[in-house]
Amino acid sequence: MQPNLDRLLRASLRAFTPYQPGTSVDEVKRRYGIERPVKLSQNENPLGTSPRAMDALRSIGALSDYDEDDFSWLRALLGRPYGLDADSVILGHGSNELVQLAFTAFVDPGDDVVFANPSFALFRKDTQVAAANAIEVPLLEGVHDLDAMLAAVTPKTKLVFVCDPNNPTGTRVEREALFAFAERLRSDVLLVLDQAYREYMDAGGTDGVEVLRRRPATLVLRTASKIYGLAAARFGYGYASPQITAWLDRVRLPFNVSRTAALAVKAAMGDIEFVARSITNNELGKAQLYAAFERLGLRAFPTAANFIAVEVPAKASDAYQALLERGVIVRSGDGLRMPGRLRVTIGTPEENAAFLHELEALLPEWRAATLAAVRR
Ligand SMILES: Cc1ncc(COP(=O)(O)O)c(C=O)c1O
Repeated sequence: MQPNLDRLLRASLRAFTPYQPGTSVDEVKRRYGIERPVKLSQNENPLGTSPRAMDALRSIGALSDYDEDDFSWLRALLGRPYGLDADSVILGHGSNELVQLAFTAFVDPGDDVVFANPSFALFRKDTQVAAANAIEVPLLEGVHDLDAMLAAVTPKTKLVFVCDPNNPTGTRVEREALFAFAERLRSDVLLVLDQAYREYMDAGGTDGVEVLRRRPATLVLRTASKIYGLAAARFGYGYASPQITAWLDRVRLPFNVSRTAALAVKAAMGDIEFVARSITNNELGKAQLYAAFERLGLRAFPTAANFIAVEVPAKASDAYQALLERGVIVRSGDGLRMPGRLRVTIGTPEENAAFLHELEALLPEWRAATLAAVRR
């Protein structure tokens, strides 16, 4: 007997669209017979994991015990650079879990949640799961339209997300504009600043903790998945006032962070050399890609992250598919609400060159097809 979901499934999930992860390396190998695909689709660290973190992982003995639940030593360590105590820090199974906890703690069915469009797909997904109303505010020239977002806040609004730098565009908001916005938001609304790519920002970028200091109803999210090269360890952390972290802490699962992740993160954060090397690689890659895009006549948003949203003269999903068949995995803007663009992770110089080589080879074909369509 098949399960009957007609009654079983929550009504708010009937129109639910599942999250689409990018195509995996194994799938490309299998489907197209390509020996070593270039993966520039998930904004991971192309230099891999900090060697110090790998050493820490290798030194772990038994994993038989539940070990620690609150990791106060790690929260203290993460708070220290900002002079924040452990009780202003919350840990999660990836920063994605912390987004979910904000919903669990604060959002009732029918509440409003405000975020940009396009922005990180998870905000929409979690809003749907919570049976809340997604109030999506279009970006202005690829950047958060903070005035429009403020205007979209209603008495029912509980959460406002600002993704800085924004995924999928890579753009960041201006510092003073963010401060002004934060100060004008009501104090019974939680501002969630997702800063998964904070470490890649230059000096012009805003440290979310500066916003938190001015506006206590703020949750600043960070992750070990990007610059620290620990996406598979699943570790995220957040800064907020103790009144907020206490509620996130109460609704989380027990032992939500693993000892393996905690030890790897501690080592990775002490690996200044690896972080510096990752930033240098990103800056060099950015220069390499922007120079090529300019030479090829392709426009791209200015990025503050480790990926670039570039325009292509083709339907994004066709461009994505053509690159895939040539062994380069990127993300199509069609699935990211960014039609006409590809999202490309900045890789090593060799990976960037491989991507540019295939892109350049495909451009004449795409341009000819576009021209023919216009003439038709
Ligand atoms: C905006 C944003 N937030 C968070 C994350 C990372 O989440 P996690 O820390 O759960 O790996 C990503 C990764 O793609 C992201 O783009």
